[in-house]
Amino acid sequence: MPKIIVAIDGYSSCGKSTTAKLVARQLNYPYIDTGAMYRAVTLYFLQNHISLTNPRETQQALNNIHISFKRHAELGRNDTYLNGLNVEDEIRKMYVSEKVSDVSAIAEVRHALVAQQQRMGKTKGIVMDGRDIGTVVFPQAELKIFMTADPLIRAQRRQMELLEKGETVGLAEIAENLKMRDYIDTHRAESPLKQAEDAIYVDNSLMTLDEQVELVVRLADEQI
Ligand code: C5P
Repeated sequence: MPKIIVAIDGYSSCGKSTTAKLVARQLNYPYIDTGAMYRAVTLYFLQNHISLTNPRETQQALNNIHISFKRHAELGRNDTYLNGLNVEDEIRKMYVSEKVSDVSAIAEVRHALVAQQQRMGKTKGIVMDGRDIGTVVFPQAELKIFMTADPLIRAQRRQMELLEKGETVGLAEIAENLKMRDYIDTHRAESPLKQAEDAIYVDNSLMTLDEQVELVVRLADEQI
Protein backbone atom coordinates (compact mmCIF):
# COMPACT_ATOMS: atom_id res chain seq x y z
CA MET A 1 0.00 0.00 0.00
CA PRO A 2 1.49 3.42 -0.89
CA LYS A 3 2.34 5.64 2.04
CA ILE A 4 1.40 9.29 2.17
CA ILE A 5 2.27 12.40 4.16
CA VAL A 6 -0.57 14.00 6.12
CA ALA A 7 0.22 17.66 6.94
CA ILE A 8 -2.03 19.43 9.45
CA ASP A 9 -1.46 23.15 9.97
CA GLY A 10 -3.43 25.81 11.76
CA TYR A 11 -3.76 28.29 14.59
CA SER A 12 -2.75 27.65 18.20
CA SER A 13 -4.94 25.29 20.23
CA CYS A 14 -7.37 24.44 17.46
CA GLY A 15 -7.14 20.72 18.17
CA LYS A 16 -4.53 19.89 15.52
CA SER A 17 -2.36 17.76 17.76
CA THR A 18 -5.20 15.77 19.32
CA THR A 19 -6.66 15.06 15.89
CA ALA A 20 -3.28 14.31 14.30
CA LYS A 21 -2.35 11.86 17.05
CA LEU A 22 -5.57 9.85 16.60
CA VAL A 23 -5.40 9.97 12.80
CA ALA A 24 -1.83 8.62 12.97
CA ARG A 25 -2.97 5.78 15.21
CA GLN A 26 -5.73 4.79 12.76
CA LEU A 27 -3.41 4.95 9.76
CA ASN A 28 -0.69 3.18 11.73
CA TYR A 29 1.76 6.00 10.95
CA PRO A 30 4.12 7.80 13.34
CA TYR A 31 2.95 11.21 14.52
CA ILE A 32 5.28 14.20 14.84
CA ASP A 33 4.23 17.21 16.88
CA THR A 34 6.45 19.95 15.45
CA GLY A 35 5.13 22.47 17.98
CA ALA A 36 6.75 20.30 20.66
CA MET A 37 10.09 20.67 18.86
CA TYR A 38 9.85 24.49 18.87
CA ARG A 39 8.78 24.32 22.52
CA ALA A 40 11.81 22.14 23.40
CA VAL A 41 14.19 24.61 21.73
CA THR A 42 12.49 27.44 23.63
CA LEU A 43 12.91 25.57 26.92
CA TYR A 44 16.63 25.10 26.20
CA PHE A 45 17.03 28.80 25.30
CA LEU A 46 15.29 29.86 28.52
CA GLN A 47 17.24 27.44 30.72
CA ASN A 48 20.56 28.49 29.19
CA HIS A 49 19.80 32.22 28.81
CA ILE A 50 20.43 32.17 25.07
CA SER A 51 20.14 35.53 23.33
CA LEU A 52 17.39 35.68 20.70
CA THR A 53 19.17 38.41 18.78
CA ASN A 54 22.68 36.99 18.39
CA PRO A 55 22.69 34.55 15.42
CA ARG A 56 26.09 33.06 16.40
CA GLU A 57 24.92 32.28 19.90
CA THR A 58 21.67 30.86 18.53
CA GLN A 59 23.51 28.61 16.09
CA GLN A 60 25.91 27.41 18.79
CA ALA A 61 22.98 26.57 21.04
CA LEU A 62 21.21 24.72 18.23
CA ASN A 63 24.32 22.57 17.72
CA ASN A 64 23.94 21.42 21.33
CA ILE A 65 20.27 20.57 21.08
CA HIS A 66 19.05 17.07 20.35
CA ILE A 67 15.29 16.52 20.19
CA SER A 68 13.67 13.11 20.00
CA PHE A 69 10.31 11.47 20.63
CA LYS A 70 9.59 8.29 22.49
CA ARG A 71 6.30 6.44 22.47
CA HIS A 72 5.14 5.18 25.85
CA ALA A 73 2.48 2.73 24.69
CA GLU A 74 1.50 1.82 28.25
CA LEU A 75 0.60 5.47 28.97
CA GLY A 76 -0.76 6.17 25.47
CA ARG A 77 1.73 9.05 25.27
CA ASN A 78 4.31 10.21 22.79
CA ASP A 79 6.80 12.18 24.87
CA THR A 80 9.30 14.81 23.78
CA TYR A 81 12.94 14.46 24.87
CA LEU A 82 15.49 17.26 24.99
CA ASN A 83 19.08 15.99 25.16
CA GLY A 84 17.83 12.69 26.60
CA LEU A 85 15.55 14.24 29.24
CA ASN A 86 11.77 13.87 29.14
CA VAL A 87 10.46 17.46 28.86
CA GLU A 88 6.91 16.65 27.76
CA ASP A 89 5.22 18.29 30.75
CA GLU A 90 7.63 21.22 31.08
CA ILE A 91 7.28 22.40 27.46
CA ARG A 92 3.47 22.72 27.80
CA LYS A 93 3.69 25.25 30.66
CA MET A 94 2.65 28.88 30.19
CA TYR A 95 6.16 30.34 30.63
CA VAL A 96 7.25 28.34 27.54
CA SER A 97 4.08 29.29 25.60
CA GLU A 98 4.86 32.93 26.30
CA LYS A 99 8.25 32.77 24.53
CA VAL A 100 7.82 30.05 21.91
CA SER A 101 6.62 32.25 19.06
CA ASP A 102 9.58 34.62 19.46
CA VAL A 103 12.00 31.70 19.33
CA SER A 104 10.13 30.12 16.38
CA ALA A 105 10.51 33.30 14.36
CA ILE A 106 14.34 33.00 14.36
CA ALA A 107 15.57 31.87 10.92
CA GLU A 108 18.35 29.60 12.27
CA VAL A 109 15.87 27.81 14.53
CA ARG A 110 13.46 27.20 11.65
CA HIS A 111 16.19 25.96 9.30
CA ALA A 112 17.45 23.44 11.87
CA LEU A 113 14.00 22.10 12.80
CA VAL A 114 12.62 22.02 9.25
CA ALA A 115 15.67 19.97 8.16
CA GLN A 116 15.08 17.49 11.01
CA GLN A 117 11.35 17.26 10.17
CA GLN A 118 12.11 16.60 6.51
CA ARG A 119 14.48 13.77 7.52
CA MET A 120 11.74 12.28 9.72
CA GLY A 121 9.28 12.20 6.82
CA LYS A 122 11.72 11.08 4.13
CA THR A 123 10.12 7.66 3.70
CA LYS A 124 6.55 9.04 3.95
CA GLY A 125 3.86 7.33 6.02
CA ILE A 126 3.76 10.12 8.59
CA VAL A 127 1.31 12.56 10.17
CA MET A 128 2.86 15.90 11.09
CA ASP A 129 1.19 18.95 12.57
CA GLY A 130 2.41 22.53 12.94
CA ARG A 131 2.28 25.87 11.16
CA ASP A 132 4.33 25.38 7.99
CA ILE A 133 4.11 21.66 7.24
CA GLY A 134 2.03 21.97 4.07
CA THR A 135 3.78 25.12 2.88
CA VAL A 136 7.48 24.63 3.73
CA VAL A 137 8.32 21.25 5.30
CA PHE A 138 6.34 19.05 2.88
CA PRO A 139 4.87 21.18 0.08
CA GLN A 140 4.43 17.86 -1.80
CA ALA A 141 2.30 16.28 0.98
CA GLU A 142 -0.54 14.20 -0.45
CA LEU A 143 -3.04 15.50 2.12
CA LYS A 144 -2.96 18.99 3.63
CA ILE A 145 -5.43 20.16 6.23
CA PHE A 146 -5.71 23.74 7.47
CA MET A 147 -7.52 23.67 10.80
CA THR A 148 -9.17 26.41 12.73
CA ALA A 149 -11.79 26.96 15.43
CA ASP A 150 -13.51 29.86 17.14
CA PRO A 151 -10.97 31.75 19.39
CA LEU A 152 -13.10 31.36 22.52
CA ILE A 153 -13.50 27.63 21.99
CA ARG A 154 -9.74 27.32 21.44
CA ALA A 155 -9.01 29.20 24.69
CA GLN A 156 -11.46 26.98 26.60
CA ARG A 157 -9.87 23.83 25.18
CA ARG A 158 -6.38 25.01 26.16
CA GLN A 159 -7.58 25.94 29.65
CA MET A 160 -8.97 22.43 30.11
CA GLU A 161 -5.72 20.88 28.85
CA LEU A 162 -3.64 22.92 31.32
CA LEU A 163 -6.03 22.14 34.14
CA GLU A 164 -5.72 18.42 33.46
CA LYS A 165 -1.95 18.90 33.92
CA GLY A 166 -2.45 20.76 37.19
CA GLU A 167 -1.88 24.32 35.91
CA THR A 168 -4.73 26.77 36.62
CA VAL A 169 -4.67 29.73 34.21
CA GLY A 170 -7.43 32.30 33.63
CA LEU A 171 -9.31 32.28 30.33
CA ALA A 172 -8.33 35.88 29.54
CA GLU A 173 -4.60 35.13 29.94
CA ILE A 174 -4.88 32.08 27.69
CA ALA A 175 -6.91 33.95 25.06
CA GLU A 176 -4.30 36.72 25.08
CA ASN A 177 -1.45 34.21 24.66
CA LEU A 178 -3.21 32.49 21.72
CA LYS A 179 -3.87 35.86 20.07
CA MET A 180 -0.27 36.95 20.52
CA ARG A 181 1.12 33.65 19.16
CA ASP A 182 -1.25 33.68 16.17
CA TYR A 183 -0.17 37.23 15.40
CA ILE A 184 3.57 36.47 15.55
CA ASP A 185 3.13 33.15 13.72
CA THR A 186 1.22 34.75 10.82
CA HIS A 187 3.38 37.87 10.54
CA ARG A 188 6.94 36.53 10.81
CA ALA A 189 9.23 36.86 7.79
CA GLU A 190 10.40 33.24 7.87
CA SER A 191 7.71 30.69 6.84
CA PRO A 192 4.67 32.43 8.34
CA LEU A 193 1.55 30.46 9.15
CA LYS A 194 -0.74 30.51 6.12
CA GLN A 195 -3.05 28.12 4.38
CA ALA A 196 -1.40 26.23 1.52
CA GLU A 197 -3.30 26.74 -1.73
CA ASP A 198 -4.13 23.04 -1.95
CA ALA A 199 -5.01 22.59 1.75
CA ILE A 200 -8.50 21.61 2.85
CA TYR A 201 -9.95 24.15 5.29
CA VAL A 202 -11.58 22.61 8.36
CA ASP A 203 -13.32 24.73 11.01
CA ASN A 204 -13.87 22.30 13.86
CA SER A 205 -15.70 24.69 16.25
CA LEU A 206 -18.86 22.62 16.06
CA MET A 207 -17.29 19.22 15.42
CA THR A 208 -16.61 16.48 17.93
CA LEU A 209 -13.13 15.00 18.08
CA ASP A 210 -14.46 11.75 16.57
CA GLU A 211 -15.92 13.68 13.62
CA GLN A 212 -12.63 15.48 12.99
CA VAL A 213 -10.64 12.26 13.07
CA GLU A 214 -13.14 10.47 10.85
CA LEU A 215 -13.00 13.30 8.30
CA VAL A 216 -9.20 13.38 8.10
CA VAL A 217 -8.90 9.57 7.95
CA ARG A 218 -11.47 9.48 5.14
CA LEU A 219 -9.57 12.16 3.21
CA ALA A 220 -6.32 10.26 3.79
CA ASP A 221 -7.87 6.98 2.59
CA GLU A 222 -8.86 8.72 -0.66
CA GLN A 223 -5.16 9.45 -1.27
CA ILE A 224 -3.78 6.02 -0.40
O1 C5P B 1 1.56 23.58 18.23
P1 C5P B 1 1.96 24.43 19.41
O2 C5P B 1 0.90 25.40 19.81
O3 C5P B 1 2.47 23.62 20.55
O4 C5P B 1 3.19 25.27 18.86
C1 C5P B 1 3.88 26.19 19.67
C2 C5P B 1 4.48 27.29 18.82
O5 C5P B 1 5.53 26.74 18.01
C3 C5P B 1 3.56 28.00 17.85
O6 C5P B 1 2.85 29.07 18.44
C4 C5P B 1 4.54 28.51 16.80
O7 C5P B 1 5.14 29.72 17.23
C5 C5P B 1 5.62 27.45 16.79
N1 C5P B 1 5.52 26.53 15.66
C6 C5P B 1 6.02 26.93 14.45
N2 C5P B 1 6.05 26.06 13.40
C7 C5P B 1 5.57 24.82 13.54
C8 C5P B 1 5.02 24.39 14.76
C9 C5P B 1 4.99 25.29 15.81
O8 C5P B 1 6.46 28.06 14.30
N3 C5P B 1 5.65 23.97 12.49
